[in-house]
Amino acid sequence: MVRLAGPACAALAIAVAVGVGAGEPSSTAARRDWVGSDACGSCHPAQLAAWRATPHARAADRLGATPRGRCLACHGTGDAPAGKAYFLEVGCEACHGAGGHYAEEDVMRDPALAAALGLRELSTEAAQQAACAGCHRGTGTTLRAPTARMPIDATSVH
Ligand code: HEC
Ligand code: HEC
Ligand code: HEC
Ligand code: HEC
Repeated sequence: MVRLAGPACAALAIAVAVGVGAGEPSSTAARRDWVGSDACGSCHPAQLAAWRATPHARAADRLGATPRGRCLACHGTGDAPAGKAYFLEVGCEACHGAGGHYAEEDVMRDPALAAALGLRELSTEAAQQAACAGCHRGTGTTLRAPTARMPIDATSVH
């Protein structure tokens, strides 16, 4: 895994994380920035198992054999619609940010460093609101963040 260091790269990671799923421009990201839910789950098996039971894990199933980029902006994980969706699911990184720079044991044990390298930990209501609203808003979506109809609990997230 390519890991870069320094403020410029931290800024890149943050820019990438903020753009995810929000339909904002995020064309600076590359394939190596995304590790995929299985990689996260190698250290977080409980979250992986619980997430698999949510509609997010099957969000691209509704889109047919050749999903369009503008749909994968919310039904996928990656850089769609500006770039490619690397995973056909609303994976860990769609909410927590692209993991290529933070998904390593030593980084993850240092919350400040992990955040600087793109991890969104989402324990605060404001952070959840921002993360969910990236997709749960706009035309075609009935569930808006934050509402009582969108509970942040094990059945909706993991
Ligand atoms: C090599 C193991 C490893 C991998 C891979 C990994 N993590 Fe972690 N993660 C940890 C450790 C260790 C912690 C520190 C807290 C703990 O002990 O559980 C942590 C903490 C977290 C937290 C909580 C942060 C906080 O401050 O409360 C989140 C969220 C998280 N990881 C998400 C992810 C996501 C998303 C991925 C994939 C992109 C990922 N992790 C990949 C080991 C890992
Ligand atoms: C702005 C984010 C966003 C975009 C873009 C988006 N979706 Fe969705 N979609 C959602 C969310 C969030 C839900 C979950 C249910 C809800 O909020 O209404 C959903 C639910 C669905 C559903 C199941 C519920 C229903 O209304 O039948 C289908 C089918 C669907 N989307 C297809 C598509 C297709 C096809 C595209 C591209 C043309 C697309 N979506 C683009 C966010 C989006
Ligand atoms: C739909 C958005 C979403 C997805 C997808 C998602 N998470 Fe989370 N995650 C959250 C939120 C929100 C919290 C904060 C929960 C809280 O503090 O109550 C969280 C918290 C965490 C934590 C901190 C400990 C805990 O369980 O609260 C870890 C670790 C974590 N997520 C890992 C993962 C992994 C691994 C995946 C993929 C298998 C994943 N997440 C997928 C939204 C998401
Ligand atoms: C990357 C875009 C994206 C993000 C970020 C996202 N969601 Fe979703 N969510 C979707 C899509 C797409 C669906 C529809 C999946 C399907 O049914 O095909 C969905 C479905 C859901 C559902 C099930 C709705 C139903 O009618 O069954 C809940 C609950 C939900 N999301 C909660 C959340 C919460 C809470 C967060 C933030 C912590 C969040 N989502 C973040 C895209 C997203």
